[in-house]
Amino acid sequence: MKHDLLGLKELSAEQIKNILSEAADMKKIVVGAKEKKIKNLQGKTVVNLFYENSTRTRLSFELAAKYMSANAANISSSGSSVAKGETLTDTAETINAMGTDILVMRHSMSGAPHMLSKLISASVVNAGDGMNEHPTQALLDMLTMIEHKGHIEGLKVAIIGDIYHSRVVRSNIYGLTKLGAEVTVGGPSTLMPMGIEELGVKVFNNIHEAIVDADVVMGLRIQLERQKKGLFPSVREYFRFFGVDDSRLKLAKPDAIVMHPGPVNRGVELSTTVIDGEKSVITQQVTSGVAVRMAVMDMLIHGGF
Ligand code: CP
Repeated sequence: MKHDLLGLKELSAEQIKNILSEAADMKKIVVGAKEKKIKNLQGKTVVNLFYENSTRTRLSFELAAKYMSANAANISSSGSSVAKGETLTDTAETINAMGTDILVMRHSMSGAPHMLSKLISASVVNAGDGMNEHPTQALLDMLTMIEHKGHIEGLKVAIIGDIYHSRVVRSNIYGLTKLGAEVTVGGPSTLMPMGIEELGVKVFNNIHEAIVDADVVMGLRIQLERQKKGLFPSVREYFRFFGVDDSRLKLAKPDAIVMHPGPVNRGVELSTTVIDGEKSVITQQVTSGVAVRMAVMDMLIHGGF
């Protein structure tokens, strides 16, 4: 039976811990090994199908596949037959028919990977579907937290920004609460989805209250491409009331770390001094991303889900 990774909503705490444990081993290859090459996916084919822009996710899936000796290929909507009107399902079935073992996909429609997973024989990995989930981002965030804090259970994680449009926040909430973290979310009420507290988080429209005593402060990108006009007056106003700068960061624990999934709008979600400051682990998140994607693909093919 094939396995897919569609979201953290569907995974148990045990499954998440298993992925993080394998990812920790994979990270030694990404950062420590003389030669970044293992044979776990030798003879397997990984295709990245991206209908939305990406730097980190697409490249890290490609590198993760190559570090594990897979055949790796990329296809995006522009430049493919999607631009000639081919449907998502026809495109996926075409890619599947070429001997693909793992299809990694990003799409603006929530549920697109779930739909394809039922149609094709390849394992499907959700690399971000609309406003729903981005499971490998949350896994890499959790791996980075464990590296700095040693554990997830009991951590206070404050997530600040555009909660409404964020698939990253949803995956993090599922994963972090399953592993016993306390999650607070903060941002403008216009960017806060109704009923988010039902996912087990505390909601604050004043970010000072959200950040107080946090172990982890995570900024989320203001998704300018998904905004309907009028959700906040201007990016300058946004930063004034909700941006994380050095003075607001002082409200968190002295040893707090600062995270952001990227890409960052500098001076909007986080000040430049915070992004480049000593508490920032944003670059380490990127490295964790390669390790997590190696672990996920290895486990999809060889078991563990
Ligand atoms: N964090 C993230 O998904 O970044 P990309 O859009 O660059 O892949």
